[in-house]
Amino acid sequence: MSGSNRFSRRDFIKVTTGAIGGIIAAGVGIPSIGYLLAPALRQDQAGKSVVVANLSDIPIGIPYPFSFTITRINGWERTANVFGGFILRKSEDPQDLLVLSSRCTHLSCRVNWDEQAGGFLCPCHDAMFDKEGKVVHGPPPEPLGHFEYEIDDAGNITIIPIERKGE
Ligand code: FES
Repeated sequence: MSGSNRFSRRDFIKVTTGAIGGIIAAGVGIPSIGYLLAPALRQDQAGKSVVVANLSDIPIGIPYPFSFTITRINGWERTANVFGGFILRKSEDPQDLLVLSSRCTHLSCRVNWDEQAGGFLCPCHDAMFDKEGKVVHGPPPEPLGHFEYEIDDAGNITIIPIERKGE
């Protein structure tokens, strides 16, 4: 047998060492790549529509409260924020709705519906908004914001959780 065709002990050690090194590199490298890519693969909920109520639960003329949580993912940081608002059914017509934000337009405190006062009261600086979100008194510079909505055949009200300026 010629010397060039022989698989020497040195070759065997080289191949075995290379194979073991490759296995170790894969064992460390694959989880590391997964860790680095994971944030990009997670689902950010910002901007996704949310079902907030069913039409059959909402009385006509009385603001109906709702809330929802949006989880935002920024790299490895996950932040959950709770948002809220009120749905006002103005008449029997299912499309005659106002979906108001509960965020005060002064400094972003949460307003609450007060049946006795007949308006939304902001506890931070004693402001009041009427049933449709217009400023009655206090420092807020603008009406309450609102959300766009859709109603499906089952009466589920879905909103796009991006607050629009009130009118
Ligand atoms: S935050 Fe609502 S009145 Fe100031």
